[in-house]
Amino acid sequence: MTLPWDFHPLHGERVTLDALRDDDYDALLTMQSDPEVCRYLLYEARSPEKVREVLTRDAAALRLAEKGDYLQPAIRDEQGVFVGTMYFTLASIEDRTAEIGWILAPHGQGKGYATEAAGVLLDLAFGELGLHRVYAELDPRNAASVAICTRLGMRHEAHHIEHMWLKGEWTDTGHYAILEREWAARA
Ligand SMILES: CC(C)(COP(=O)(O)OP(=O)(O)OC[C@H]1O[C@@H](n2cnc3c(N)ncnc32)[C@H](O)[C@@H]1OP(=O)(O)O)[C@@H](O)C(=O)NCCC(=O)NCCS
Repeated sequence: MTLPWDFHPLHGERVTLDALRDDDYDALLTMQSDPEVCRYLLYEARSPEKVREVLTRDAAALRLAEKGDYLQPAIRDEQGVFVGTMYFTLASIEDRTAEIGWILAPHGQGKGYATEAAGVLLDLAFGELGLHRVYAELDPRNAASVAICTRLGMRHEAHHIEHMWLKGEWTDTGHYAILEREWAARA
């Protein structure tokens, strides 16, 4: 495994994964304060103050070295417009495992950007980083997110029933994963 890894922009066919910047604030606020966007996320719609705080924190998360280190790059379209963010965290060094996640602003949805951005991060994970396994966890009611996992070839490995009290209700979690050799076979 090649660590530490310092962030550099990553390019897909149409999208670029780029570090968050101060001037992403307005777009990030619009996205993270939207109750519909946040419906299946672990957090509620965020206040302007909270978005400012997480932007400062996440813009500085540029190095993967130890368990828990994460990236939260912006997804930008062909014109460089902010369309969402990806999430990628080192879940285990020994097991060479990472967790991946995705959020698109409404104007970025329905164009394949999240699937493409996830593919870019899987290329990074299994290429440059030399990881063994990448997983995603989601609310099984989130059909659009399940569809991304399916398109990427991630296997549905678990469905945890009512294991989390979230936003006033018992919530299930789906667990999807893909191994390095499986991603290589798809390529
Ligand atoms: C989950 C989420 C990222 C999915 O967004 P999405 O736009 O459906 O996902 P993608 O960007 O991969 O786009 C896929 C869609 O674009 C369509 N599409 C249109 N043009 C396309 C193109 N040129 N290439 C690929 N797909 C294209 C696909 O057909 C697909 O639509 P379909 O599902 O109706 O068939 C989005 O719903 C979201 O951000 N939700 C709120 C946050 C959230 O819940 N995040 C996940 C937490 S686990």
